[in-house]
Amino acid sequence: MPLTHTKELFAKALKGKYALGAFNVNNMELLQAIVEACEEEKAPVMLQISKGARQYAHPVYLKKLIEAAVSLSNIPIAVHLDHGDSFELCKECIDEGFTSVMIDASHEPFEKNIEICKKVVDYAHKHNCVVEGELGMLVGAQHDDGEEGGGYSKGGCYTHPDEAVQFVKASGVDSLAVAIGNSHGAYKFKGEQHLDLERLKAIKKALMDAGLGDYPLVLHGASSVPKDLAAEINKYGGKLGEDTAGVPEADIEIARRTGCTKVNIDTDLRLAMTAAIRKVMFENPKEFDPRKYLAPARTKVKELVRHKVKNVLCCAGHAFD
Ligand code: G3H
Ligand code: 13P
Ligand code: ZN
Repeated sequence: MPLTHTKELFAKALKGKYALGAFNVNNMELLQAIVEACEEEKAPVMLQISKGARQYAHPVYLKKLIEAAVSLSNIPIAVHLDHGDSFELCKECIDEGFTSVMIDASHEPFEKNIEICKKVVDYAHKHNCVVEGELGMLVGAQHDDGEEGGGYSKGGCYTHPDEAVQFVKASGVDSLAVAIGNSHGAYKFKGEQHLDLERLKAIKKALMDAGLGDYPLVLHGASSVPKDLAAEINKYGGKLGEDTAGVPEADIEIARRTGCTKVNIDTDLRLAMTAAIRKVMFENPKEFDPRKYLAPARTKVKELVRHKVKNVLCCAGHAFD
């Protein structure tokens, strides 16, 4: 089966009222875990590649790995650039056949963000690719010094519903990543763990009222940072802070029903992989065959992805709609 276009996956997800999991891929084991889980759950899936993943694995390795996954499975798979930071990077990915790209100019002033997005949209649309833009700034790791010591940024700024309409109309982006209290990484909240779901509803309504229809919204930073994974990592020698915190699954559920069509998950995959590897290393200090710790890591990521697509995103069973 060839890649399935992001546009087609979005249209079906909006119609079926489920969310697509957009899972980050950095290596073979993560890719196998994600695709095998979705295959078993009959779920369509978006594989997303960040600039860092391309630097880590090399674009050709990632492309060939994904080709292998696509040829060995029969579920719909789209490939997306996560957090593209320049026109040039987006163009490279469009030319390589990605079905969608994100251009993240959310740190720029409003008009500049539009201008950068529009340039990518103009190129992408001529080359059968769709574009995700971001308006507002995620709090936390993205525009911060990082997570060390749990540094929380106060500089994030939430997406305004009226500006969202203006932004989508002027830039021509095909989907919009929103800032509603979400952030990347394992330390998302200080105190109460909640997204601003009222704001999400207002954004969706404003887009609908402006004639943009059932417009696809994207939720970044959607990892739930399960306490049991953090505890397992620490049990086997890790040193995650006490204050790890993610988005409650109940909030993701509401976000899905409110119109978040694409839900981005990376941190939870990292935690699952790390927990499994640490356990093997701790219990078998003499082990040095990478397959002995990468196989359990792959299994643990797969279990996590199965849970997400079945119980949280509700895209399981929709692969052949
Ligand atoms: O939002 C960021 C994703 O988790 C990708 O992270 O840039 O470290 O690959 P990365
Ligand atoms: P998490 O860090 O919550 O997994 O978010 C991932 C993400 O938004 C990738 O773009
Ligand atoms: Zn993100």
